[in-house]
Formats: sequence, C-alpha cells, structure tokens
Amino acid sequence: MTAFASLPTPAILIDRGKLEANIGAMQQWCTTHGVELRPHIKTHKMVEVARRQLAAGAAGLTCAKLGEAEAMLPSGVRSLFVAHSLVDPPQAPRIAALHDALADLRVAVTSEAHAAALSAVAAKTGRKLAVMMAVDTGLGREGVRDLAAARRLAAQLARSPQLELRGFYTHEGHFYGVPRTEQATRARALIGQICAVRDAIDPGLPVWPGCSVSARLIAEQSAGRVQAVRPGAYMFGDLYLTEVTDVMAKEDVAVHVLATVVDKPEPGLALIDAGSKTFASDRTADNIHARAADGRDLAVVRVNEEHGFVRGTATDSLQLGERIAFIPAHICPVINLTDEVTVIEGGRITATWRVEARGKTR
Ligand SMILES: Cc1ncc(COP(=O)(O)O)c(C=O)c1O
Repeated sequence: MTAFASLPTPAILIDRGKLEANIGAMQQWCTTHGVELRPHIKTHKMVEVARRQLAAGAAGLTCAKLGEAEAMLPSGVRSLFVAHSLVDPPQAPRIAALHDALADLRVAVTSEAHAAALSAVAAKTGRKLAVMMAVDTGLGREGVRDLAAARRLAAQLARSPQLELRGFYTHEGHFYGVPRTEQATRARALIGQICAVRDAIDPGLPVWPGCSVSARLIAEQSAGRVQAVRPGAYMFGDLYLTEVTDVMAKEDVAVHVLATVVDKPEPGLALIDAGSKTFASDRTADNIHARAADGRDLAVVRVNEEHGFVRGTATDSLQLGERIAFIPAHICPVINLTDEVTVIEGGRITATWRVEARGKTR
C-alpha cells in the first residue's frame, strides 16, 4: 500500500482489473446460459461502471429510483427498469422524460393498490407505461403474495389504458440468509415459483429474478425459463458475498476502504479514521463491519461516526499512521457515502471516478 501513502483517507479504492474481470465473468456466465444481464446500479452508482457493464454485453440496467436512472443516462443505456413502487404524480414529468430518452423504460407494479396509484401517475405522463409485476418469493417486501393476487393484478392491468404488463420480477434478498449448501436447491425452487406465476398469466412474458447471491445459480438452472438476472453487488464484492454467502472469493473483491490507524488507546485495540460515515452501519451476523483485505486478523468490530474500532491478533503490531485496506461488510451503503472513488491499476492510482448517483434517493 506504499503507493497510497499520500492519499487522504478514508478513501474508496477500486481495483480496475478486478472490477473488469468481475463484470466480464458474470456477463460471460449469463451469455453462456442464454440469460440477459441487467445489473442493478444501486451498488456502484457510477456512469464509468455502467458503461463497462453495457460494453461487456449487459442488455440494460436496473435502478431503484428515478434519480439513479437520470444519473445513468450518460452511460448510453437504452433499456432501463426502475424497480420501485412509483406513486407520486409530481414525478410524472421526470418519468415522461426518461420514457422519451430511452428505447425501453419499464417500471415496477407491486400490488393492486399500487397499480391504481401508478395509473394516476402514468395518466399524468401522457404515456403508456410498460410495467414488470413484482412477485414476492420470500423476502416479504414488495410483490404479489400468491397466484390469485397475481391474476387479479394482471386483470386490473389488462383493463388499464395507462399500464401494459411486460414481465415479472422478484428480489430474493432473503438469499443472503441461505447457507451455501442450500443455495442451488433454493434457486431451482425460486425459478419454479416465479415461472408458475408467469405461465399462469402469459407464458410469453419474461421473468427477471436474480440478485448477486442467486444470479449465477438461476442462470445456470434456467433452461430457457428465465430471461434476465439483475445482480447489483457482484462486480465489487463485500463480506456479505465472500464470508456470509460464500459466492465470491476474497481475492476477487474489487473495492476496498483505505483507512489510517490514528491511535492505539489500549492493548488489543486500534482506532482508524473510518467509522459509520464511511462504512455505514451494516454488519455481518458476527457483528463485523469490515475486515483487513490482506488476511491479517484485523476486524472493525464497532463504529462511531469518524472512528472504527479495530480488534484482532494483529492489532498490537500496528503503527500509528499505517494504512490498511478493508473489505466492508456491505458495499452498497459505502459507495453511497462517497463523492468519488480512487481507481488503481497494478498498484498505481490511475483515475478518480465520480459517484454520479450518490444520494439520488428520489
Ligand atoms: C429490486 C432489486 N433488484 C436487484 C437487487 C440487487 O441485489 P444484490 O445487490 O444483492 O445483487 C436489489 C438489491 O437490493 C433490489 O432491491
């Protein structure tokens, strides 16, 4: 890390080689299995990363919020899915502008009540909106809970002059709690669950499941039944993907938080200059906020706003001023807390990228 001795910390480092390798590997996997890749940009929020995903062959992008979608337009994206329950009529002009800027804009429809609210928004856009029906497959968040509800929602959409059903999606965030040994079986069951809904309503429509834990397994077992997956964190990696779910190797993680040891107030404890305003507050089930990337036994076990509490057997050999690269527990909120990231290649700093959709929660 000597090349970074003068870099102000905390800093978010992106290893460009690893990033491009992760983007390429997921794309190749999806292409091999005949499934489109529509990455969720909520993790990276950067045009530079979206451009690389599209150049590698992504069929489109997924966003949570309109602000994210707007921020991604300079990437050249033509097909974009806003996977959130839009209900606000004042957002209509922004939706209309996105609709006109893109070849294919889709938005989520997440319940019968939501379809009514979305119809009113769509009416104000003066455009017919393409919608993807959310199916709850176990997370218990948005989406129809059973086939009867899906049929009722489909019938409601068929009567709507404003909304057109164009497919189905699910977010299986609960896969972060599925042990490695059960992931493949659960992915097969999930394909069956969402395809049963699709087949009962319109077998010609696409289904788009697939988060970073499940995307490869779903693509692999799709056998033509699934048309796209939408993972978000896969090209960066974090402790959730390496330690908790074990779907990624630590060596492949492409983003690190570089922090400086600022004090050692007692034996066995070091303080670093990165706390919850850098790592956010997410933790692994073992209450770890971050771990040293170089394999030393150094874990961030507690965070205050500007301090990280580091414990582990390697703590006592740390020097004040020493810089440590950490893998955070959950990368998505880390990126949302930074204006820019430092790009490294072969141990050298080669660029700074802006996080254009940082804070775009509206
Ligand atoms: C609707 C939706 N799709 C896709 C994703 C991507 O999930 P992951 O970052 O686990 O790949 C998320 C994550 O929250 C999501 O909410």
